Amino acid sequence: MLSQPSAPLFSPAYYQDPHTTLAWLRENSPVHEFRFPVGDVRTWIVTRYDDVKAVLADQRYSTEGGTWGNAEFRAAGLVAAEGTILERGISVVDPPHHTRLRRRAMGAFTTRRVEEWRRTAQEHVGRILDDCARRETFDVMDDYAGEVSAGVLGEILGMRIERHRELVSALNEAFPSDPALMHKVPSAFGRICEYAAELVAEKRARPGDDLTSALIQGDGDDQLTEDELIGIVAAVIMGGSDTVRGFIGNAVLSLLRHPDQADLLRANPQLAEPTVEELLRYDGALSTALFRVTTEEVELSGTTLPAGAPVIVGLLAANRDPRRFDRPELLDLRREGHRHVGFGHGLHNCLGAALARLEGAIAIPALFERFPELTLNTPQDAVRYIDNWAIRRLVALPVAASAKAADRGPQEV
Ligand code: HEM
Repeated sequence: MLSQPSAPLFSPAYYQDPHTTLAWLRENSPVHEFRFPVGDVRTWIVTRYDDVKAVLADQRYSTEGGTWGNAEFRAAGLVAAEGTILERGISVVDPPHHTRLRRRAMGAFTTRRVEEWRRTAQEHVGRILDDCARRETFDVMDDYAGEVSAGVLGEILGMRIERHRELVSALNEAFPSDPALMHKVPSAFGRICEYAAELVAEKRARPGDDLTSALIQGDGDDQLTEDELIGIVAAVIMGGSDTVRGFIGNAVLSLLRHPDQADLLRANPQLAEPTVEELLRYDGALSTALFRVTTEEVELSGTTLPAGAPVIVGLLAANRDPRRFDRPELLDLRREGHRHVGFGHGLHNCLGAALARLEGAIAIPALFERFPELTLNTPQDAVRYIDNWAIRRLVALPVAASAKAADRGPQEV
């Protein structure tokens, strides 16, 4: 047995293969103390399924880093979106403030609206597939997953398309692949808030049948402040773009690496929904939840965490915990039973899970159905993930619609 994880957490090698390191931690140091690379901050990562769920369900682990985080954490600039209105956004506030924002946001996700999104997603996917078919070789990340997630979200929120293009670049800067680009993060968050503010103003002036207008109108007397409203719209923009794009990319790669499972899906369209769940478990879009910080000294599976301690919850790790999932390394679209934590757990679980599931269940099978011979169009070891501790996303995923198209040569990654 190794006495160290194979690749240190959040090192370049870890990003390319986090599962080996996480498996070691799960077995040998399930509540593991290490130094977070940004600011060299003393941090703990939790990797077992039961511990992950326990942390996410326990109010002593706060999302309010600015309030409860220790001095070291705050000084390192790890308080999310510090200095923007998103510092008090839905994902980083505790009850009762969170309860109010969450109730209001959920009110706009009605069954009727989600059903309409299905049609929107189908239309976008069909059009984008036609585009990909014309090219024969394409990048799943930019030409398919990126277009699907951006197109669907843009239409749902009622965003103009040219705005949307700029937003994608702001999003990339807000979640950089390269630590040297950290300095661009605050201005990127600022631009996302500006877009959200602009959208709210536009929809206030000319309400439509879209999610932004629904959020503005609300359903009761409990009015949101302008900043709260803009914050929710910005959270939906941020939560709903890169995650869905990343997930579709990871899902397509997993199926390309398991052609038997891709064939199973092609032959059984009714497996679309369980497929999404298994792919989210197997290699989800978020490696970890956002930071939690302890509000008091807490005991977790035999480890004592001091008050103010930063805690990282390992979602990828929990989803491959053999204590919970039988043969977790196996991709099995027919798997049944325990729920994954790819959408988190507890009060902050994913607000957009219904939309993400719907997009996945339409976009993933459609790609494999449309291209029965879909193949990777680059050497296996050239497929790279971005260097990001929380987001698990491929840099690019070049594919060819058929083996013949692939023979014309691999694309540049
Ligand atoms: C496959 C795609 C997605 C994945 C894997 C994902 C994952 C997650 C996870 C793990 C959390 C919890 C984070 C934590 O506890 O710190 C979360 C929260 C959230 N997600 Fe998603 N998400 C996805 C898509 C979406 C979409 C499409 C939207 C918007 C429509 C969205 C909006 C949000 C928001 C607003 C929160 C914060 C909720 C709260 O704090 O109450 N997500 N998501």
